[in-house]
Amino acid sequence: MSTKDDLLAAYQHLRNGDLRAALVELDLPTRAAAARERAEQTVRRAWMKYALRTVRQNDAHDRLDLAYKMPDPWHMASAQEQARFAETNAVIERELGDHFGSLLEIGCGEGHQTEHLAALAERVTGLDVSATAIERARRRLPDAEFAVGDVHAQPWAEERGRFDLVTACEVIYYMSDMPRFLRTMDRLGHACLVTYFAPAARKVAVHVDAMPGVEQCTFRYGEVEWIAAWWPGAAARGA
Ligand SMILES: C[S@@+](CC[C@H](N)C(=O)[O-])C[C@H]1O[C@@H](n2cnc3c(N)ncnc32)[C@H](O)[C@@H]1O
Repeated sequence: MSTKDDLLAAYQHLRNGDLRAALVELDLPTRAAAARERAEQTVRRAWMKYALRTVRQNDAHDRLDLAYKMPDPWHMASAQEQARFAETNAVIERELGDHFGSLLEIGCGEGHQTEHLAALAERVTGLDVSATAIERARRRLPDAEFAVGDVHAQPWAEERGRFDLVTACEVIYYMSDMPRFLRTMDRLGHACLVTYFAPAARKVAVHVDAMPGVEQCTFRYGEVEWIAAWWPGAAARGA
């Protein structure tokens, strides 16, 4: 029923002296929760517009950290993002395996996706350029290992085949040098997986599609589409 119909029905109950029925009709707690969710989403959008306004493919790490001054700035707790995490896990399980000794998640943010990836691996390392996000990720997953910074700055960045699986989901757009980043993933992982928002393909696909042995699929949530691409890392190819 529409809000107008609900209000009319509640009004009729009040005219009949039935306050309880009017309150049930109005369902104020549900309405308040929905109004709060809408308000939060409006504030989140305005904040991200401001925080990310100079962020392109330009390694703008300070601005990415600024975004996290608001908790969960990308709304990773939403149904859409939770569905994306579940679908990404499903792709990994179907194409790469359901159990990994070690997994590196590049761009782990506050650890929302880490919670899902952790179900597939004995040891998870999350990496993000935002110290604020990593602080929250550590609280969310006390058993995982987290580090702040860019992957190229890590002491193990040059190690071949250090991780069984390396993931980078919704991150590659922020990198100024995508080919270098993909080469680093390729070096570090026995298997590698990236996901990206399908409309970004015109900038991203040319680089991802150049990885040796790459395969891909798409998945959706309503109108929103993502691309997942995976390939065997250099150590697995014996390259
Ligand atoms: C849109 S969020 C995606 C978070 C998570 N991977 C997901 O898919 O839900 C992008 C994250 O990548 C991080 N990021 C951007 N550039 C990065 C880089 N060079 N190294 C590590 N993290 C980076 C940002 O700080 C942010 O937390």
